[in-house]
Amino acid sequence: MTSSLKHYLQFKDFSREEYDHVFQRAKWIKDKFKRYEPYHPLFDRTLVMIFEKASTRTRLSFEAGVHQLGGSAIYLNTRDSQLGRGEPVEDAGQVISRMSDLVMIRTFEQDIVERFAANSRVPVINGLTNEYHPCQILADIFTFIEHRGSIQGKTVAWIGDSNNMCNTWLQAAEVLDFNVHVSTPPGYEVEPERAGLFGTNHFEQFADPMDACRGADLVTTDVWTSMGFEAENEARMKAFADWCVDADMMSVAHKDAVFMHCLPAHRGEEVTAEVIDGPQSVVWDEAENRLHAQKALMEYLVLGRIEN
Ligand code: CP
Ligand code: NVA
Repeated sequence: MTSSLKHYLQFKDFSREEYDHVFQRAKWIKDKFKRYEPYHPLFDRTLVMIFEKASTRTRLSFEAGVHQLGGSAIYLNTRDSQLGRGEPVEDAGQVISRMSDLVMIRTFEQDIVERFAANSRVPVINGLTNEYHPCQILADIFTFIEHRGSIQGKTVAWIGDSNNMCNTWLQAAEVLDFNVHVSTPPGYEVEPERAGLFGTNHFEQFADPMDACRGADLVTTDVWTSMGFEAENEARMKAFADWCVDADMMSVAHKDAVFMHCLPAHRGEEVTAEVIDGPQSVVWDEAENRLHAQKALMEYLVLGRIEN
């Protein structure tokens, strides 16, 4: 392992200054892509994508993204690889990283990506764990900046489960200096240690989701039952019934507030169709921006800082 090796396992792995760079590159790469101008900085490079959970957007955006940058992608899943037959993750890290230039992993416990990365010769990206989803928040903040400008000092309302998305928003608030209002049902509150927080003055918890939404610049939510927690689904459907983002919640947010959802969404559960398909929703831009933001992320991790 070289000392300059950088991984992206949690949002706080990058500084504010590094995010400024990645967002600026994402915009440049996106604009170029929209003009159909080829850009192949990762020519001949190989991304290995390991999926231990389902995915549509993450697989598509990484696979399409690395191709568009001139490289290629290899898809591995638990079922068809030795990972599903008990090969130690440390051994997988040693082997896979000797045959590739970059690795993306979607798995269960954060500990799995951390152990893989500790044994990897190449950068490792967290493509979602039970605890965090940094690539999604990278795209979400890039989307907010495109629509509304800097997120610094703004307020994000998180309604629903204190899951991997919520934890990552909370880390992002500390790195990029904005506020998060969180409202969860009783028993599903934020666990600051699990969220990996290093300060507490960037988030506030609200019992009533209406209070969390009041004045917010961005209202966002996610499924009530995340992948890996399916056994809790019935209890969660009951506990979360009042945490559905609806037009009343949007009406107390800032008049220019945007609505985001990482997708996939369940209309009528965590959000009404009126809101997710309504004028304040930016969910399709948000989904598309996974592609552009992750292309900038891959460029930065493999090649370092490129200026143009
Ligand atoms: N938002 C997101 O990560 O979607 P997928 O599960 O489809 O990858
Ligand atoms: N919190 C959800 C996000 C899916 C993209 C999950 O982990 O299943």
